[in-house]
Amino acid sequence: MQDYLILPSLLSADFARLGDEANAVLKAGADMLHLDVMDNHYVPNLTVGPLVCEALRKHGITAPIDVHLMTRPVDRLITDFANAGATNITFHPEASEHVDRSLALIRKHGCKAGLALNPATHLHCLEYIWDKLDLVLVMSVNPGFGGQSFIPSALEKITALKKMISARQLDIRIAVDGGIKTENIAEVAKAGADMFIAGSAIFGQKDYAAVISAMRKQLG
Ligand code: DX5
Ligand code: ZN
Repeated sequence: MQDYLILPSLLSADFARLGDEANAVLKAGADMLHLDVMDNHYVPNLTVGPLVCEALRKHGITAPIDVHLMTRPVDRLITDFANAGATNITFHPEASEHVDRSLALIRKHGCKAGLALNPATHLHCLEYIWDKLDLVLVMSVNPGFGGQSFIPSALEKITALKKMISARQLDIRIAVDGGIKTENIAEVAKAGADMFIAGSAIFGQKDYAAVISAMRKQLG
């Protein structure tokens, strides 16, 4: 059976109670936490820095933290988030002058390295860096905000990406981020994704455990 991971995106959590929200989704069955870092420059929104990742660790969160950098540049924040307790660090290729170097920097710090592809970003950008990747994050919305609708062309991209990974016999996860809900998660899994990031679909409901288990049920 496929090893599927569900990652609530803290972007839709109640930030005034972030530690409790993180604990609540983990208790409700989440596998990892997804932390969206926005700089009001690469994307038109501003969220949190390494301090908040560190605060979650100090609050007693031991689960993996998946950091999604929507910032430009990325290298300094890679080091800062690694020191702040990040498990995975993912950035957008358009945001680094030297993608290969930034990916290597993530692993050098002992974290798993990911590249995030915007809806219009081609899979070609993965061509010479397969060996530096632990995950590829397919954006199924334009980055910057929670609560947007899933862009259907992401399915085609995930299918093509899955084929490329299988053909190369690589151990690279496919994450999908944006507009994921109980209603579409099965279709996205069928295309080949195995890490499902969901913000509004989880935090928008009162009963986190009910949503997460409904999602898992869809995954079979
Ligand atoms: C968007 C972020 C997502 C966001 C997803 O730029 O990367 O992680 O929280 O939110 P939903 O699941 O509401 O589309
Ligand atoms: Zn994200």
